[in-house]
Amino acid sequence: MSIPPTTDRVGQPAIHVQGLEKSFKHLKVLRGVDIDVARGSIFALLGSNGAGKTTVVKILSTLLRADAGTARVNGFDVVTRPADVRESISLTGQFAAVDGILTGRENLVLVARLRHLKDPGAIADDLLRRFSLAEAGTRRVVTYSGGMRRRLDIAMSLIGRPPVIFLDEPTAGLDPQARIEVWQAVKELAKGGTTVLLTTQYLDEAEQLADRIAILHEGRIIVNGTLDELRQLLPPAEVEYVEKQPTLEDVFLTLVGAGTEKEQR
Ligand SMILES: Nc1ncnc2c1ncn2[C@@H]1O[C@H](COP(=O)(O)OP(=O)(O)O)[C@@H](O)[C@H]1O
Ligand SMILES: [Mg+2]
Repeated sequence: MSIPPTTDRVGQPAIHVQGLEKSFKHLKVLRGVDIDVARGSIFALLGSNGAGKTTVVKILSTLLRADAGTARVNGFDVVTRPADVRESISLTGQFAAVDGILTGRENLVLVARLRHLKDPGAIADDLLRRFSLAEAGTRRVVTYSGGMRRRLDIAMSLIGRPPVIFLDEPTAGLDPQARIEVWQAVKELAKGGTTVLLTTQYLDEAEQLADRIAILHEGRIIVNGTLDELRQLLPPAEVEYVEKQPTLEDVFLTLVGAGTEKEQR
């Protein structure tokens, strides 16, 4: 049997998740998660520490089995077509997977070789340029700043042009300048038509990057919309004569509650 042509899947969302449930022993982490991510968009899954963001990403990247529900990535079911899902994605974790002994360029060339691509050197040079690493490319990665490493990691995830990229807390632990650099890199991904699902605990990150934002709280998506739609959940505050729009932080704290440590029942 042959793989159906991609045109069959074009109309479908890049990521479709319905009724996803997952428990670890008695800990119910996901209690029915529904998400759709349009092709070529940036979708932020926002949630406090321990909300279950990484669990969702692991299920979508076939590293973990859900207890119930369905998940499709690039039109492929994660349970019945795991190999096709893995071909369709790349996953960049919180901890950069680059090798510090090698130079940035060598890291990229290595991955391109592993993927049996033609002209790994040209691929590496193109990515170094796109992620503002051209000058640093011949230096060992041990000498890179945190932001440079993370950018290199994202560049590596693009090799082979996967249509869907998962970024699990891409800026965790970075300083403000490095975070801005990584944001530029993520925007660069989406410009090229790649679908990006990113998880974050940072409201400003979701605000900066995402076309749509979903808040994962106590195992469910409690809101899902554009930044403007989320803002409309709260009335604007009247400050003297100037109307102040609610920030995403106002929306988040109102919905999730100021104490962000969740209770498990
Ligand atoms: N393999 C596991 N075994 C037991 N508990 C787990 C496992 N993985 C995650 N958890 C728990 O599930 C909850 C959600 O974890 P996670 O998805 O990593 O949250 P997030 O990425 O939003 O911080 C946490 O309470 C975490 O401790
Ligand atoms: Mg996590």
